[in-house]
Amino acid sequence: MLQGKKIILGITGSIAAYKSALIVRGLIKKGAEVQVVITPAGKEFITPITLSALTSKPVISDFFSNRDGTWNSHVDLGLWADAVLIAPATASTIGKMANGIADNMLITTYLSAKAPVFVAPAMDLDMFAHPSTQRNIEILRSYGNHIIEPGEGELASHLIGKGRMEEPEAIIAVLEDFFTTSALLQKKKIVITAGPTYEKLDPVRFIGNYSSGKMGFALAKVCAAHGADVTLIAGPVSLPTPAGSIRRIDVESADQMYDATMECFRQADVAILCAAVADYRPATQQTTKIKREQQGAMQLDLVPNKDIAAALGALKTADQLLVGFALETADGLQHAQGKMERKNLDLIVLNSLEDAGAGFQCDTNKITILSRQGEQTVYPLKSKEQVAVDIIEKIESILC
Ligand code: CTP
Repeated sequence: MLQGKKIILGITGSIAAYKSALIVRGLIKKGAEVQVVITPAGKEFITPITLSALTSKPVISDFFSNRDGTWNSHVDLGLWADAVLIAPATASTIGKMANGIADNMLITTYLSAKAPVFVAPAMDLDMFAHPSTQRNIEILRSYGNHIIEPGEGELASHLIGKGRMEEPEAIIAVLEDFFTTSALLQKKKIVITAGPTYEKLDPVRFIGNYSSGKMGFALAKVCAAHGADVTLIAGPVSLPTPAGSIRRIDVESADQMYDATMECFRQADVAILCAAVADYRPATQQTTKIKREQQGAMQLDLVPNKDIAAALGALKTADQLLVGFALETADGLQHAQGKMERKNLDLIVLNSLEDAGAGFQCDTNKITILSRQGEQTVYPLKSKEQVAVDIIEKIESILC
């Protein structure tokens, strides 16, 4: 899977920099093309001559070449790469990446790169455990960067703990796994619905629900990170669009979501219906504000909305995959199974409000995925981003 892949290897000032020579050799053996970008501190730990000999390319460190003054374009480099691997990544580099402190060639390249980024931290145990480092690592994760966790063991300081850069073979295996799985979604067109819908009563009021859109947005982010072209059809949510190839269509009502989804589904390979679509809307929408004194007790006439999932299930071709969600408060498995069959879905993701930490608004979720073939996979409580990874891996297992 690494054959022909263009990889930027960022090397920073850590004693583990000596292992980068083994990373370069391993990547090249597997057919990758490697361009080393080294920080000034990195050069104190490993010589550029070793690295340029191994990569058959000049090592880049400065904004300008000292020899002839040519500009090393971090923009071109960033666009050239299929992946950026920063190994070893010091606490300082991780902090600069998290905060956009672009004072060396590696950070400017990182900020320009469109490719997936892998970061293998290496530092002393107390530096790694410090809340500042941990917060910066979390920030990188929130950008969609992949953190290759350091191992535990004896460190350069002779202290024992967590902070030792992962071994070169294991780092290379992470990249290989990534390219193997992401190839399945590369350029696939994926439509995702997310968030609630609002059904207007009058110009100032609506019927809605507590959905935050977090799960659908996390799915969009993971799909884009795996190389898919995502169309994210979002109900009213206050979330920024995640980075990557994501076209966002904002809608308000179930009717608008239905129209947008039907339009996009024709070209889609996969649709993931994560939105909490309102099942009913007011039979009439008042054009002026409903006044209390003219109403007394009030009755609302509601009419059913169209079921987007069921409509797509009826249209679906053999090449298209349809994934639904079921948020249940009781008898979850039975209801989810029924919905999957009624709506002609291939997979359904069940989350239950009976489980603490699952469902609307929270940053975590606990899911069970049911497949049309009768498979049932139960997952522990995880962050919504990790849950998104599990769902995408399940989709990939069906596509391969
Ligand atoms: N769904 C949809 N359009 C609707 C209602 C639901 O696309 N009008 C989708 C949801 O996005 C979800 C799945 O159908 O993927 C199940 O949604 P849910 O609200 O749990 O199912 P309902 O069929 O509405 O059943 P109920 O509300 O009675 O549980």
